[in-house]
Amino acid sequence: MMRQARLNRCCRGAMKALLVSALALSGVVASSSIQAKPNGTIVDWMQSQEVIANHNLLRNINPSDAARGVVVASPSRVAPNYYFFWVRDAALVMDHVVNLFLEAKDTKSKNYYRELIWDYINFSRGNQVTPNRSGGLGEPKFNVNGSAFDGDWGRPQNDGPALRALTLTKFAYALMAEGDYVAVRDRLYNSAIPAYTVIKADLEFISHHWREANFDLWEESYGDQFYTRMAQRNALLVGARLAAKLDDQGAADWYNEQAKLLATEISKHWRSDLGAVLITLNRKGGIDYKNSGLDSAVILAALHSDSGDGFFDVTDERILASARKIEATFAQIYPINQNKNLGVAIGRYPEDRYDGYRTDREAHPWFIATAGFAELHYRLARKLAKSGSVTFTKKNLKFYQSLYPAGQTPSFINEGKLMGGDEKFQQLLTALVEKGDGFMRRVRQHTADDGAMSEQFNRYNGYMTGAEHLTWSYAALLTAVRSRP
Ligand code: NOJ
Ligand code: NOJ
Repeated sequence: MMRQARLNRCCRGAMKALLVSALALSGVVASSSIQAKPNGTIVDWMQSQEVIANHNLLRNINPSDAARGVVVASPSRVAPNYYFFWVRDAALVMDHVVNLFLEAKDTKSKNYYRELIWDYINFSRGNQVTPNRSGGLGEPKFNVNGSAFDGDWGRPQNDGPALRALTLTKFAYALMAEGDYVAVRDRLYNSAIPAYTVIKADLEFISHHWREANFDLWEESYGDQFYTRMAQRNALLVGARLAAKLDDQGAADWYNEQAKLLATEISKHWRSDLGAVLITLNRKGGIDYKNSGLDSAVILAALHSDSGDGFFDVTDERILASARKIEATFAQIYPINQNKNLGVAIGRYPEDRYDGYRTDREAHPWFIATAGFAELHYRLARKLAKSGSVTFTKKNLKFYQSLYPAGQTPSFINEGKLMGGDEKFQQLLTALVEKGDGFMRRVRQHTADDGAMSEQFNRYNGYMTGAEHLTWSYAALLTAVRSRP
């Protein structure tokens, strides 16, 4: 089945086939020596897929015909053309590269990642000062030579600067740990206004513009966005800490103050009538058919914007209530989910019409969403283990009960509290990891034999579809794998 999927894909264009074989010859493409292992355990597969995903992700950074620092969303240039630098995708991908940098043991690989990150920083600073149709820092994507993309698009998208600031702040701390305050002050965070350093410019933009309506991460709906606001709040909190450390206390106070105001607005996204977080409030434009109000970006928000204070994080009962509803909904609408041996394939939102090529079709499950659900369960298990207890509430109870197949939920999952010493607590953690593994089995099922991951996989037959080698798919797989307890 997967072999067929691969043939279909490479036969789409003779050019592409040529390119693939040329790359294979040059040893750039994952060769048969690093095959995924569909018959081994899921942990075995995750280990081999981690190697492939890292390789394929890095291949989408700095392609030879692009300016240094470019992360393409996908190497696909036609049907669909994803050969652009998306601020959001790049920030999420480079966050993983910063992790690789932090973990690198030998000087050579450390310097390799360091250089990739500096290239990205320079390119990003270029983005910030390039005039564009958003008229500010919310421009969602740039051409690979760094010029502004001037076609019609859903703009602005204000999650970009926030995600970028988060990624770069992590790097700034790494540099300061090495004692390199000079590089940080010169190029990442300097209190000078008007801002000429990347992080400072992002924080100024966020703190002055977070009230403005903008397009969501799916680039379709115009209004007040939960995902975006979560990223903005986290960036402001993290940025405030950085500002204080770099003697910019006035700015730190201002960022903290804005983060607090944002929290009030974010809380309004919880809708008790819906029993879930509503992704967009005060919609002013864009698509109008998201009737269920459910959207997996709520879960991605909890994953990408955890500010360490429990606010809408993976333990938050409102996030868990949303997760249960989203999963149950996708379980119903995608035919491939009739296979109950695998976790539920998750898409962007139930009414989605973007099939990876056009916006008037039935959409499919996405790797980033399905891997995101695995990560949610893994990270929840970790956090609960660390905190040493779990409290079942009216809002989260169904989530915990549905970790088990119908009729098999142990009776201890009932309102109340379970403590770490209790063996039932251990059972619960195991159930969470197993549930997460189910989502990863789903991801494995639809990943090509050679580890290639596109954007979506077909809801009827499971074949991959949409942009090939989507860089974000690899990043999502990698963060999920690395979050497993
Ligand atoms: C492509 C993608 O960004 C997708 O999210 C969006 O629905 C369409 N473009 C809008 O045209
Ligand atoms: C469509 C997705 O909806 C959007 O989130 C992403 O930024 C672009 N594709 C590029 O990958």
